[in-house]
Amino acid sequence: MNILVTGNQGYIGYPLVRLLHDRGHTVTGLDTGYYTDGTLFESEWPPGVRQLWKDIRTIEQSDLEGFDGICHLAELSNDPLGQHNEANTYAINHGGTIRLARLAKEMGIERFVYTSSCSVYGLQNGDPFKTENSPVHPLTAYARCKVMVERDVSALADDTFSPTFLRNATAYGPSPRQRFDIVLNNLSGVAYTTGIINMRSDGSPWRPLVHIADIAQAIACTLEAPRDTVHNEVFNVGHSDENYQVRDIVDLVAQTIPGCQVSMGSSDGDDRSYRVSFDKIATQLPGFESAHRLHDGAEQMADLYAAIDLAPEDFTFRAFTRLKQLEYLLDTDQLDSEFFWRQPVEPSIMSSHNA
Ligand SMILES: NC(=O)c1ccc[n+]([C@@H]2O[C@H](COP(=O)([O-])OP(=O)(O)OC[C@H]3O[C@@H](n4cnc5c(N)ncnc54)[C@H](O)[C@@H]3O)[C@@H](O)[C@H]2O)c1
Repeated sequence: MNILVTGNQGYIGYPLVRLLHDRGHTVTGLDTGYYTDGTLFESEWPPGVRQLWKDIRTIEQSDLEGFDGICHLAELSNDPLGQHNEANTYAINHGGTIRLARLAKEMGIERFVYTSSCSVYGLQNGDPFKTENSPVHPLTAYARCKVMVERDVSALADDTFSPTFLRNATAYGPSPRQRFDIVLNNLSGVAYTTGIINMRSDGSPWRPLVHIADIAQAIACTLEAPRDTVHNEVFNVGHSDENYQVRDIVDLVAQTIPGCQVSMGSSDGDDRSYRVSFDKIATQLPGFESAHRLHDGAEQMADLYAAIDLAPEDFTFRAFTRLKQLEYLLDTDQLDSEFFWRQPVEPSIMSSHNA
């Protein structure tokens, strides 16, 4: 298939392009390039992959010619980013996505895979394990946009346009465009670079976690599935055994870093807590298996840090924490208040900061 991956220069998008290429697809990436100031480790760019440097809010029909499917990842990608500037979150995550989906449909692009999030469930009330049919309870602008996109893109589904909504658990694992602002990656990086995990909270909230490679596999399987198995469907992406309380994640991480000390705080009033069932994707998405477990992922991260000799300044480097990088781009006047570049940029694919 001829596939467009939006957000391909991000944490999930970067390895996703490699996977789709290796599975025989022709891949084009589209990204505005907010986080291209650094890579955590070198990774070969797959041959023949074309790159468009564009904002999804300004794409046109001509950008979408010839594609059979779109994997749409390009959004402001977490709760703190959404809280930082709610108007931009709505404009990019909701407005930009609806625009892209409408254009895709007009251009006859049949498959549209959307990376939604388990954060739509928000609270641990009602069903003990949230299924795709459980009521949603989004607590942040980021999560509210995910719900609004699912509703509005779903309304476009017909015989010519098949969207699928993948509600991903919180990701972990290595990527050249690393994120250290998500829970396991953050804890393991802190543990490795300081030897101490100081939790300000009691770590009681529940979170489902999933390896980044399993998310990429779910996206590829969705694109390749017979249309009637994924048409206008919602799938939680993860494994039902992989719901953890944050304090259990801390313990697992600490076990992978020799000598790591842990101290826990008291409840910090973080309301976000949810356990999720992943039975539907395990039984209904052809070819998909969530093969990775958190313990192995924590070891994989510790091994990576040792291999690249991760220094504290690499761990705290701005490009690996999404909010920090956007604040830097605003402070240095590279982005305007709506997060558009003031000067057109053509970032290099492999950039200067390598750990
Ligand atoms: N990482 C997770 O734990 C997780 C969990 C659930 C869902 N998701 C979703 O998966 C998607 C990818 O997440 P990620 O972790 O790779 O995020 P990321 O922030 O690493 O990547 C997002 C990419 O989108 C690009 N982008 C942002 N706004 C854009 C715009 N207006 N135009 C063009 N490009 C733009 C950024 O430059 C970046 O390269 C997001 O939609 C996110 O909400 C991620």
